[in-house]
Amino acid sequence: MGCHNTKKSVLSSMKTRLVISLLCVLSLCLLNGWQTRFQATEPSSFSNRSSSRDVTILLWYWPFGRSFSLQGDVCWDLYRIPRCRLVDQRSLFPSADVVVFHNRELVQGIHKLPFDLPRPQGQRWAWMSLEAPVNNGNLGKYANIFNMTVTYRRDADITIPYGEILSKAADEHLVDDVPLNKSSLACWVVSNYRNQHKRSQVYKELSAVVPVKVYGRWTKNPLPSRALLPTISGCYFYLAFENSLSKDYITEKLWRNAYQGGVVPVVMGAPLGDYKAVLPPNSFIHVDEFASIKDLGEYLQQLAEDKKRYSEYFTWKRQWKVKLYTDWRERLCKICSQYNSLPQQKVYTDLEAWVNNT
Ligand SMILES: *[C@@H]1O[C@H](CO)[C@@H](O)[C@H](O)[C@H]1NC(C)=O
Ligand SMILES: *[C@@H]1O[C@H](CO)[C@@H](O)[C@H](O)[C@H]1NC(C)=O
Ligand SMILES: *[C@@H]1O[C@H](CO)[C@@H](O)[C@H](O)[C@H]1NC(C)=O
Repeated sequence: MGCHNTKKSVLSSMKTRLVISLLCVLSLCLLNGWQTRFQATEPSSFSNRSSSRDVTILLWYWPFGRSFSLQGDVCWDLYRIPRCRLVDQRSLFPSADVVVFHNRELVQGIHKLPFDLPRPQGQRWAWMSLEAPVNNGNLGKYANIFNMTVTYRRDADITIPYGEILSKAADEHLVDDVPLNKSSLACWVVSNYRNQHKRSQVYKELSAVVPVKVYGRWTKNPLPSRALLPTISGCYFYLAFENSLSKDYITEKLWRNAYQGGVVPVVMGAPLGDYKAVLPPNSFIHVDEFASIKDLGEYLQQLAEDKKRYSEYFTWKRQWKVKLYTDWRERLCKICSQYNSLPQQKVYTDLEAWVNNT
């Protein structure tokens, strides 16, 4: 961090930004064609000076009480998101464009909304959560307060998924080896086993058809985190069963455990269409694609015996790669990238209904 404040690096980062802005303007011109470039109706942020100023995002408190450094121009330095001032000093409330509240601490009563402060004109309050609806608590009292939502849902104002698929750059087109050193058919890692969870029923039915190895706190077979991926990679299939069947709720069970563990995920949670909308085709198997769990089990068995067909579940990795989101700063900086497309005026009159609209 030592050189961040030197004049040289400030100057060179200003230069970089200038070059990038010029490139952007140029590509916009090329896209729009030279004839239409002066059309006033073009919703270009470059024609509107007031929308290209710095945006200030104030995080009212850190999620789960764990703070991270906001030294320097964090959003630019770490994520190349320009003109984004991410702060956590409450004294900056009067000048903040967006104030972000993480739901967990509100619901637990650890932090409160600053109703005592005069809310500046135009300031937006953002409700942020990565939990499934059932774990967000009672949101009835948060009607008519928030202007935006920051969640994993695709229809949130700012979508902060657990992971996403990115296209590989030209120099990254290395074919990942299909991991074939596998000794177990299906593996499941579960710490919080509840009989009434749908996933527990599916597990019971599936394990009556095919062998399922179970790890995690629930069994006497806990996995230290460094052993997680190596263990999972020894399985043909990983049961990426979410604990909640909710719209768009796709967690690191899929993004990290399955995709990075080199194993084909068998998913259950959000509807099939939600998975299809964000994942490459032929990269996962959804429980709902089968008329019965018995059919699913038979399909898995056949696939594991057919190396060619099994390996086709990895061809997506030639073109695509997985990006995990784990840092709150990155999620918060993302608000700036989309700030100019937020609706001018919006109030969540019934936040609870929006959250529970699964
Ligand atoms: C520029 O953007 C601001 C805020 O987004 C808006 O209020 C204003 O009307 C815009 N001005 C022009 C000239 O487009
Ligand atoms: C294959 O898996 C076995 C058992 O999990 C392990 O002992 C062995 O080292 C692995 N071999 C390779 C080449 O990864
Ligand atoms: C945000 O919500 C408040 C409270 O309902 C409302 O008064 C304000 O106009 C909203 N602001 C924006 C920018 O939508």
